[in-house]
Amino acid sequence: MNLTLHIWRQKGPQDKGKMVQYNVKDISEHMSFLEMMDVLNEGLVAKGEEPVAFDHDCREGICGMCSLQINGEPHGPDRGITTCQLHMRMFKDGDSIYIEPFRSKAFPVIKDLIVDRTAFERIQQAGGYISVNTSGNTTDANSILISKEAADKAMDAATCIGCGACVASCKNASAMLFVSAKVSQFALLPQGKVEATQRVMNMVKQMDEEGFGNCTNTGACEVECPKGISLENIARMNREYLKASIKG
Ligand code: SF4
Ligand code: FES
Repeated sequence: MNLTLHIWRQKGPQDKGKMVQYNVKDISEHMSFLEMMDVLNEGLVAKGEEPVAFDHDCREGICGMCSLQINGEPHGPDRGITTCQLHMRMFKDGDSIYIEPFRSKAFPVIKDLIVDRTAFERIQQAGGYISVNTSGNTTDANSILISKEAADKAMDAATCIGCGACVASCKNASAMLFVSAKVSQFALLPQGKVEATQRVMNMVKQMDEEGFGNCTNTGACEVECPKGISLENIARMNREYLKASIKG
């Protein structure tokens, strides 16, 4: 395949940035999208030009680092996958592909297609944990009974990889799907109940301080989430928040 790429280039956080056009030739349909980007960068380096900066690590849908907005969609046109799992067979010869960073005030651009997602880490630090007795006199995990339904729902919520596609897909740049997944994975389990009140209050407070927008239930986040995190988690987080507010 021969393709025309329109890619966001931005030298640094203060640079205005602009779309730049590139042509890539002989791209195999069996390549992943990031391998196609590697081909582009090898060509740029060979010509003595600056390669395009983009985030990636595991390249198997686990780490949440890859974060490209492809033809206006976070992680591209396929469903239930990350950018690194996207294959070039989703495109055809002669296509034009627009590649941009995830856009949000709370995710400032560092360079080209790389954005700063440390806002998510600060939200996690505000409450995404449980306190465990590590004195050596701990309770055997198997002695705490958990229903299959609760365990399954907690596990589903825990599959969130913190990629930020939910924010990038939302017209309000809301982080509610991410935060609700992190709140839910603990709220559903007995180990998470102890700190439930302060967890939801602190994580929501941090989310607001980071500058994410409000949720207006458009549901775009659920559609674009590579891990199928359900809107049900947002409803659960709202209930947790209401309970916590009443308790004070
Ligand atoms: S909820 Fe989905 S889209 Fe949002 S950060 Fe988690 S995995 Fe990514
Ligand atoms: S590079 Fe790790 S999820 Fe894509």
